[in-house]
Amino acid sequence: MNSPAEWYELDRNRKMEEKMAGENNGLNGAGFQGAGFHGSRDYVASEELMASVNVAIALKKPLLIKGEPGTGKTKLAEAVAASLGKKLIIWNIKSTTKAQEGLYVYDTIQRLYDGQFGEEGVDDISRYIKLGKLGEAFDSEEQVVLLIDEIDKADLEFPNDLLWELDQMEFYIHETKRTVKAKQRPIVIITSNAEKELPDAFLRRCIFHYIDFPDQQLMEEIVKVHHPDVEENLLKNAMEVFYDIRAIRDIRKKPSTSELIDWINALQLGGIPADRIKKALPFVGVVVKKDEDLEIVKHSGSLF
Ligand SMILES: Nc1ncnc2c1ncn2[C@@H]1O[C@H](COP(=O)(O)OP(=O)(O)O)[C@@H](O)[C@H]1O
Ligand SMILES: [Mg+2]
Repeated sequence: MNSPAEWYELDRNRKMEEKMAGENNGLNGAGFQGAGFHGSRDYVASEELMASVNVAIALKKPLLIKGEPGTGKTKLAEAVAASLGKKLIIWNIKSTTKAQEGLYVYDTIQRLYDGQFGEEGVDDISRYIKLGKLGEAFDSEEQVVLLIDEIDKADLEFPNDLLWELDQMEFYIHETKRTVKAKQRPIVIITSNAEKELPDAFLRRCIFHYIDFPDQQLMEEIVKVHHPDVEENLLKNAMEVFYDIRAIRDIRKKPSTSELIDWINALQLGGIPADRIKKALPFVGVVVKKDEDLEIVKHSGSLF
């Protein structure tokens, strides 16, 4: 670990580097033509979202993506990796995940076990150090995309515990006295469903983008990525009902993009004629998942 003075110096150097990068990376006018992220065949990204991705890459900062569930946050990381031809490493965060697990774990149990059974090489601690997802991303020879998915699932300390490592792109393994330093700085994408607020110090270091719920035009494009041959009237009627359901004030869980995609799939497979959708709400359970919401939707039939 660095002392506060060293930390300050490192931070100052980083700012200088960023300033210089900002002057040379075409941010001041030329834009991101050529290289960079421009969406992909199976992912529809708004201009603003593409710009945020490219700014984060140019400034070498983590991109923090917030938005309702189902707005394509996880899928964005896949699309960025695929379109830039880079490997994607996914760190799925759960309520019990600790920052340390992303760096490395020392498998003492295995070592003890091996020791008892007289295995060779027990003295070599490095055999029992397993890199976590962040460690793997740092250790990779090629630049990778690292997705830290649903960071708000973990406890409040979690983002703060990763600040130093994400800033400096390195960490120290005490047991083996080895520093793992990023060979190629990974492109870091962090997602949050906004279940919890994230600490200010963490937010300061990220480029932030909120994915708005898609408007009807964008949604049409997204659906067509998944169902290119969808019949126009079926799509139009299903979307109308979908947005009407979302607009009901008392609804507990608003249906998401992925639910609309599934619903259209069900309607197509079921051979439902477009004009029956509004009247009969076929397979509505694909879109509305809570009993209370189903009741509300059924009683607001006049809406559709
Ligand atoms: N912009 C988009 N382009 C293409 N598909 C999308 C888009 N947004 C959402 N989807 C679809 O919705 C599903 C849910 O997206 P996902 O990335 O898992 O959402 P989130 O991580 O925000 O909860 C994806 O599997 C994809 O099929
Ligand atoms: Mg997700």
